[in-house]
Formats: sequence, structure tokens, C-alpha cells
Amino acid sequence: MPKSAIARNQATIEGVNLTLSPPVETFQDWIGQTDVLKQLLACWLVIHEKDLPLSPRLIGPPGIGKTTLAMAGAREKAQPLFIYQCTSDTRPEDLLVTPVLVESGKIAYHASPLVTAMITGGVCILDEGNRMNEKSWASLAPLLDHRRYVESVIAGITIPAHANFRCCVTMNDDESTYEVPDYIISRLQPTLEVSYPNRQDELAILQYHLPFAEAEMLNMTVDFLQRAHDLNLEFSPRDGIHILQYALKRLAQDSDHPLSRDEAWRESLERVLGEEALDLEKMAEQRNRALGGEVPGVNLSDFFFGSDDPLNPNRDDET
Ligand SMILES: Nc1ncnc2c1ncn2[C@@H]1O[C@H](COP(=O)(O)OP(=O)(O)OP(=O)(O)O)[C@@H](O)[C@H]1O
Ligand SMILES: [Mg+2]
Repeated sequence: MPKSAIARNQATIEGVNLTLSPPVETFQDWIGQTDVLKQLLACWLVIHEKDLPLSPRLIGPPGIGKTTLAMAGAREKAQPLFIYQCTSDTRPEDLLVTPVLVESGKIAYHASPLVTAMITGGVCILDEGNRMNEKSWASLAPLLDHRRYVESVIAGITIPAHANFRCCVTMNDDESTYEVPDYIISRLQPTLEVSYPNRQDELAILQYHLPFAEAEMLNMTVDFLQRAHDLNLEFSPRDGIHILQYALKRLAQDSDHPLSRDEAWRESLERVLGEEALDLEKMAEQRNRALGGEVPGVNLSDFFFGSDDPLNPNRDDET
């Protein structure tokens, strides 16, 4: 008997039969920011028989497009796509193989989306990886280095990854997160940063998702988002899509007192992002005050002098 065999939604590894997960069939185009898509595709390229693909980390604030980018990368490579949604409750067996009691009273083994991608040569996105605990991450350590396999304790098998298997992890820095251990971070390289789209791209993103939106409403939303990006406020294309969507629904409603476009848009902004979003400048000022007047991540001394430069007043001085 071969060591592994695949038929329809079943695979046999070391004599153990696994039921495979279905691939994700929905796709979205990636609009603008071609650089970061190219960087992702470069990670997945194999340029020599001794070379291996990289599993990058896609980082950025919520709603900026990390998952969409990874999905677009999989489509570009024309490979089946699998997404594993990481949560704080994810156990190693959920990530790999879970036992399921079937009618006959026997145990059947279900391969996770990750293991299915490994077996079939697909792409797996480990989505929101920052939510997963260390124990689950530990089970992926051999997969994410030159070994390219996982060990399922439950099924008692070692599962090697197909040569075409590719992986990436999306992470954002919201509060509900675990500290991903350093030995895992060092395997999830390089780090690709998704940034806010420029005006032209942001308009195209909104138009792509809401092709029926009229120009005036689109422009109001893009103006708002661009202003928020300039002020370093974390409002995303996803927020823009929701604001526009609700405003358009309110406008379309039959009513004895129809709303003006401006009224519908402002109401939507307030419902989606809260009243404080009506005054972005004030919001930015409050945020800056809460941060002690500092713009996050910018320290002029560190900018001009290295962090261990004797001229740097904030010098890292360990001795
Ligand atoms: N460049 C883009 N092209 C097409 N759609 C985009 C783009 N950027 C963002 N979007 C749209 O914005 C919404 C949010 O994107 P997505 O879910 O990928 O964000 P995310 O960074 O993964 O968010 P989270 O951190 O909450 O998981 C989606 O509807 C997505 O399609
Ligand atoms: Mg996401």
C-alpha cells in the first residue's frame, strides 16, 4: 500500500484514512497596492531545487485587507485555498486532525483546512494567528521550517507537506491577542505590512464592493477615510464599506420624510463608528493627549541617531 493516497475528499496517510476539508470557493480581487501582493508571491516562489517557500506574516490594523490580500495571492497562483480561523480556543488537534464519532460507533479522522492544504498542495491562510495560544503554535513548528511536516498525536501519524503547499499568517494588533512566541515569529518571515490605500485605490475598493453607489456618496466616504488615515486614526476600508452600505440602504428606503444624502451619510457614520467619528480632528487630538502628546512609533531622537548612539538622549544603555 502506498504511504499516502488521495481520492475525492479522502486521503490515506500511513494507513489512516482522513476526511479532507472543502476548499474556500469565494474570491475577491485585490485592488491597488500591487507591491505587497508581489512581495507575498515572491515568498511563495521556489527558485531552485534546494530552495523552500517562505511563510510570511501579513500585519496591519483590522479591516485593512490582510485576509483579502492572502486570498488574492492564492488565486494568483491558481491553487486551492483553505483558511483556518485561529481563535484563543484553538487546540493543536483542531489545527491538525480531529477524531469524530461516526454512526457505526467507529472513529473517523477529519483533516483541518491546514492539513488538507498540506496534503493536496493548496494554500492555507492561518487567519488572525495572533489569537492562537502557544501550545497550538508549537504543533506547527516543524511545518514552518525545513522539515515541512506535522505530527498528529490523535491519529498517530506524521503528515508531510506537498511540494506545492504554501502558507501565510495574518495578524493584527488588537487587544484580544496572545504574544506569539519568538521561535514561531522567527519561522513566520518575512513580515509584510499592509498599509492604508491611497485615495485612488480606496475609491476603487469601494466601487468594487458597492458598484451601485453614486459618486457623491463614494466621495464623501473616501474623503472621510483619507482624512482619518492622515490623522493616524484606525478607520479602514471595511469601515468605509459599512458606512456606505448603510447610508445607501437608508436612502433607498421608502419614507414620508426622505433623508438627504448628507443626512443619510452622517447618520450612517454615527451608527457604524460612533458619534466621536463625526469630528476626526477632535478624536485625533484626544488620542494624542492620551498618548502623552506623542505620535505612536515616531521618536525623533531614534530617527536621527541609532538607539545605542551616545548622542541619542533615549539611548539603550544596558551597562
Ligand atoms: N486592496 C483591496 N482590494 C479589495 N478589497 C479590499 C482591499 N482592501 C480592503 N478590502 C476590503 O475591505 C474589507 C476588509 O478586508 P479584510 O477582511 O481582508 O481585512 P483584514 O485586514 O483581514 O481585517 P481583520 O484584521 O479584521 O481580519 C473586505 O471587504 C475587503 O475585501
Ligand atoms: Mg482578516
